[in-house]
Amino acid sequence: MLADIVDALRCPVCAEPLAPRDRALACAAGHAFDVARQGYANLLPGGARPGTADTPEMVRARDAFLGAGHFAPLTGALAASVGDAARVLDAGAGTGHHLAAVLAAGRARAGIALDLSKHAARRAARAHPRIGAIVADLWRDLPVRDAAVDAVINVFAPRNAAEYRRVLAPGGALHTVTPSARHLGPLIPELGLLTVDERKEERTDETLGGHFLLASRTPVETTADLARDEIAALVGMGPSARHVPAGELARRIARLPDPFPVPLSFVLSVYRLR
Ligand SMILES: C[S@@+](CC[C@H](N)C(=O)[O-])C[C@H]1O[C@@H](n2cnc3c(N)ncnc32)[C@H](O)[C@@H]1O
Ligand SMILES: [Zn+2]
Repeated sequence: MLADIVDALRCPVCAEPLAPRDRALACAAGHAFDVARQGYANLLPGGARPGTADTPEMVRARDAFLGAGHFAPLTGALAASVGDAARVLDAGAGTGHHLAAVLAAGRARAGIALDLSKHAARRAARAHPRIGAIVADLWRDLPVRDAAVDAVINVFAPRNAAEYRRVLAPGGALHTVTPSARHLGPLIPELGLLTVDERKEERTDETLGGHFLLASRTPVETTADLARDEIAALVGMGPSARHVPAGELARRIARLPDPFPVPLSFVLSVYRLR
C-alpha cells in the first residue's frame, strides 16, 4: 500500500516530502498528485507523455507469461540476491511480479514499484500488500527521497545511474537483470525478433561505472518448453512487440513445433555504490 512507502517519496515538482491528503499525495507547497481508485499514485508532473510505457496489451502478455512461472529461476535468484534489504525500489517494475517475490521471500518491509505505464502500476499495486505503486519516468529525477531505499532492482528496464545512486542508502546495492546473447536462441531468427546487443553487459558497466562498482555477476539459464500462445505472450511483452507486425508474427509462430524449447538466459549483476 502507498502508506508503506509514502515516507520514502518526494514531490516531483519541488522535492519536498509528500503526505496523503484526501485521495491524493501532496507536499507542503500544495503540489498534489492523484491516487487512483486502483491504489497507485500518479507522480508524473503535468504534461508528461507515456512514451516508452508498456501498453495494456504488453502488460497483459507479461502478466500471463510471468504468472505461468516461466521466469521463476530468475525471480528466485533476484530474491536471494536482494536478501534482507529493508526497503526496495523496483525501477521499471512492470506488473510487480519480481518485487512481490522479493518481499515474500525476505524480510524486506516495503517495496516501491515504479513504472511509466499506469496499466503496469495498476497491477503492481495489488501484486503484494507491502508494495506501493507509483507512475513516474525513469529518465527524470525520481520522486524518491535521498538515501531512502536499501536496494534498487532493475529488470529489463531503463537505467538512470545518477538517480539510483541518489536514492540508495549507504551500503545499498543495485541489482540489474539483462538478457544474455543466448536469450531466446532460435526464436530470434525464426520470428525475426530484435537481437540482444553482444556488448550489452559491457555497455551496462560503462553506463553505471561513474556511480557504481560491479560486485558480482551471475548467469541464470533455463529452457522453457513453450506452447504457441505462450511464445506469442513472450514476444508480446518484449521490445519486438513494437517491431514485428502482429499478423506476420502469428504466421511465423504457427510454423513452429508446439511445444518449442526456448532458452531463457539472463545475467544478474550486483553493483555497490562507489
Ligand atoms: C520489459 S518491461 C520489464 C518489466 C518488469 N521489470 C519485469 O521484468 O517484468 C519494461 C518496463 O519498463 C517500463 N518503462 C519503459 N520506459 C520507462 C521509463 N522511462 N520510466 C519508467 N518505466 C519505464 C515499461 O512500462 C515496462 O513496464
Ligand atoms: Zn511540491
